[in-house]
Amino acid sequence: MARLDPHSYFDSDQARTRHLDIAFDVDFARRVIAARVVLDLGGPSRGPLDLDTKGLAIGAVRTGDGRPVPFALGPEEPILGRRLRLELPADSTAVEIVYETTPDAVALQWLDPAQTEGKRHPFLFSQCQSIHARTMLPCQDSPYVRTPYRAAVTIPDALAAVMSAGPAGERTGPRPGTKTWLFEMPQPIPSYLLALAVGDLAARDLSPRARVWAEPATVEKAAWEFAGVEQMIVTAERLFGPYPWDRYDMLVLPPSFPYGGMENPRMTFLTPTLLAGDRSLVDVVAHELAHSWTGNLVTNATMDHFWLNEGFTVWAERRIVEALHGAEAVALAWAIGQNALDESVARFGAESPLTRLRTDLAGVDPDEAFSSIPYEKGARFVALLERTVGRERFDRFIQAYLGRFRFTSITTEDFVAFLEVQLPGVAAQVDSRAWLHEVGMPANAPVFRSGALEALTALAEGFAGGARPAAAQIAAWSPAETLIYLQHLPREVGANACAWLDANLRLTGRGNHEILVEWLVIAAGSDYEPVFGRVREVLSRVGRMKYLRPLYTALGRHPRTRQLARDLYARAGPGYHVLSRRVIESVMEKYRDG
Ligand code: BES
Ligand code: ZN
Repeated sequence: MARLDPHSYFDSDQARTRHLDIAFDVDFARRVIAARVVLDLGGPSRGPLDLDTKGLAIGAVRTGDGRPVPFALGPEEPILGRRLRLELPADSTAVEIVYETTPDAVALQWLDPAQTEGKRHPFLFSQCQSIHARTMLPCQDSPYVRTPYRAAVTIPDALAAVMSAGPAGERTGPRPGTKTWLFEMPQPIPSYLLALAVGDLAARDLSPRARVWAEPATVEKAAWEFAGVEQMIVTAERLFGPYPWDRYDMLVLPPSFPYGGMENPRMTFLTPTLLAGDRSLVDVVAHELAHSWTGNLVTNATMDHFWLNEGFTVWAERRIVEALHGAEAVALAWAIGQNALDESVARFGAESPLTRLRTDLAGVDPDEAFSSIPYEKGARFVALLERTVGRERFDRFIQAYLGRFRFTSITTEDFVAFLEVQLPGVAAQVDSRAWLHEVGMPANAPVFRSGALEALTALAEGFAGGARPAAAQIAAWSPAETLIYLQHLPREVGANACAWLDANLRLTGRGNHEILVEWLVIAAGSDYEPVFGRVREVLSRVGRMKYLRPLYTALGRHPRTRQLARDLYARAGPGYHVLSRRVIESVMEKYRDG
């Protein structure tokens, strides 16, 4: 018996799923999916097969040729869920499981019409990373296991369905008023990249291979914001090789989507907070697109190697941004990343094992280990390798890495071994052992300098002493520069200073949520009443965890904002994604009384 992944019951000595055939019947009234999945085992197998499940109601299990399969559900484990052990009779080449999800499946958020832009239809979306696919279907829910899949999704006929797969047609549904949408994902993907969304959706083509989906009321705005995506794909292909997934489509979700973006293959999921109206937040699209190579093509084998996904992708995202917008823009992006990295290290503590790149998350919920560390420390490690060998050699290395491991799932150790073969001695030269296995930030971390950056931070650091930027200066700042300025201001300033900032930088009315939330963190943390209305508005609409955590944290600083937070959460809480609720509850637990 070999359990290779601390977050899965997947056993490498047992049969491995080679293909999934999924039938989902989406029931908005009951908030469940009635489902059937066929796991193709690729050849005759027998004996135990352990699957991951969480909150699934298992109805029947039979072999592909209809023989009953005895099964047993193990006890509920808090992180893992319940092991579903099947006892396969001899010569089982496939197994079919009939089951239902439960209304509180973590992977699925069911929205009332009121939580959508159009207010007329309900909405459903999934978010499986890291270990929530098991709340949507019984499977070997470890990225070690990759499968192509096919799906038939039955939904109300007024709605549309998208998946992390190619469209494969539609047919009339099994009941009046229903329609069945067909999907096909021919390339093998890990379970965390399974994705589904259902709602009142419209689409706009951005290029022959890229399209954006959104609610009808949002789709034009989305098409404008992401009009440059084809150019991004072409740029990424120059760096990382031909785009391997055929189409690159995007879905803009309702605002409760808990992440900025999710790299579901062929269908990136995006928060609507990216629709700033000035294309200033498209680096998130560059990031999700870059995952098409780093993450989706070469995948972390378990969450202990998550930095292989995110560190490489942040580095790749910045290479794309550099090619499109230049070195100065990228220096600012690294600075914004540094701020996020510092916040994460401070939150966990510099000595925390969660500051390692290669982690040991046995017994740890990946959602609780989530931070900017695998992203930004990981990207700095990759950038250090790049600087050490030079860009030309490193680009060849990256192409070789992607070629060698394409459509496989690898560990940190696999990466290090490959690095040693391709670029002998470099690992030792940069002290990769310290980067990967030690806590905190190594002393040889690369530094990203820029004149603009130094001027901005100096100006912000002089704020408490009375330094103020001139109107002409402010007017010339890009959104990234404004954000960096705000990030370097004191966390608490007086009411006059707040009023000055808002009047001169016009912050409360901003549509760029990076800037808006950074401002609200300062202003709410300063107990500055004029922004309370906007705080209320943002927190009752937006469910992106990146914004909720700092805002609810800032609201904890003063008695009256603490009360505001509690009132708000009591009202907005039920509309948040369960993952967002968990984050906010952990933040509010740390509030002092009063
Ligand atoms: N894959 C992540 C999102 C994720 C990670 C979801 C782990 C669940 C568990 C995605 O690619 C991501 O990193 N999104 C970022 C944006 C990015 C520009 C850093 C986000 O959501 O903010
Ligand atoms: Zn990512």
